[in-house]
Amino acid sequence: MLIHSASQLITLAGGPQRGTELGRLGIIHGGAVLIRGELIVETGVTPDLLKKYPNEPCLDAGRKVVMPGFVDPHTHLVWAGDRAAEFEMRLEGKTYLEIMAAGGGIASTVHATRSASVNELLDQSRKRTRGMFKHGTTTAEAKTGYGLELNTELTQLEALLRLDKEGPLEIAPTFLGAHAIPPEYKGREDEYTRMVSEKMLQAVKSWWGAHTSEKPLPFVDVFCEKGAFDLEQTRQILTAAKTLGFPLKAHVDEFENLSGAELAGELGAVSVDHVVKTSSAEITALGKSNTALVSLPCTPFGLAEPHYSPAKDILAANGILSIATDLNPGTAWCESMQFVIALACRYLKLTPAQAVAAATINAAYAIRRDDHIGSLEPGKQADLLILSVADYRHLAYRFGGNLVQTVIKKGISYPVA
Ligand code: NIG
Ligand code: FE
Repeated sequence: MLIHSASQLITLAGGPQRGTELGRLGIIHGGAVLIRGELIVETGVTPDLLKKYPNEPCLDAGRKVVMPGFVDPHTHLVWAGDRAAEFEMRLEGKTYLEIMAAGGGIASTVHATRSASVNELLDQSRKRTRGMFKHGTTTAEAKTGYGLELNTELTQLEALLRLDKEGPLEIAPTFLGAHAIPPEYKGREDEYTRMVSEKMLQAVKSWWGAHTSEKPLPFVDVFCEKGAFDLEQTRQILTAAKTLGFPLKAHVDEFENLSGAELAGELGAVSVDHVVKTSSAEITALGKSNTALVSLPCTPFGLAEPHYSPAKDILAANGILSIATDLNPGTAWCESMQFVIALACRYLKLTPAQAVAAATINAAYAIRRDDHIGSLEPGKQADLLILSVADYRHLAYRFGGNLVQTVIKKGISYPVA
């Protein structure tokens, strides 16, 4: 199939974009892209490709933007229930950490998730995958972390594998058994940490091998934060995961700096996420590493807090910056990478081009899939969007709506109603 007559074909060719290089869109004006099966064969200008492939079935993009599907590299997709009541409590003055310390927060979603059957979890989560897909997300990372005991954590992993198999949204799974201290371990934080490091990780690895041996191991993530896992506990879990061969991620510096970014960087983590209270020294070190920095602007926005990731400093330090929704029931129930782009331009002070690159090729890098998604280049997977606008900057300029008209996933076209 030849998709032609794009006003702007945003290729994002050339690999992940480091530091101030971010924002290289590789635009072909009047562009076209040839797809065969699940793959991209060629990109170029419309007259050239129409001439070269005269018998190809055609799809006229109608002078609109054609671009890679969004990659959302940080979500907590699978949960049961909601926390609308906590949102109201926060508006009345309680903080996120206070609600968590009082037994609400993540623990309340853990309770609902433990009580749900796998089918209930699938039904509730599938609504979100559909929302993400119709807003243009073609691949998303998604975490466990609302079980906090082996069986429910495995149920969440199973739900992720099943949703991935159902498609069309593709899912990169993450084990987040260290998302919070489960209520039954209150006061025995070190014991839970040992349980995760010494038992759960091995059990997840064996389960994974038995269920899906053909897929690489999931990521292992830890919420390194006051009231969750401290630096030493984080070190213990991430080190054990690394020894078992898991690729690493970490939630760091969302509210307080515990030096988790430095630790994760030293351990060679694939990404560090949130990075709000990260120190200049840590940003400098990460800028020299291959660890991606994933900013989640929906989280401070959702919490009505004033602090966002220091994106300009990250770029000045040559860091690989990406953005994600953080889709979760506590701080950020947002399924749209378009809304993340709008926030990133306003609060991280990114240009629209930088935000688009952070939501595509760099987001693919943050889940180590940049070799086959995140840009429109020959040999890559045919995951792309046709927008309803002719200028990509509308993705940043407008907000709260949906500018995606058609999603193409692995070469198959899904019109957005
Ligand atoms: O990334 N910070 C930890 N995890 C989520 C919040 C999860 C929740 O509140 O349920 C986050 O913001
Ligand atoms: Fe998160």
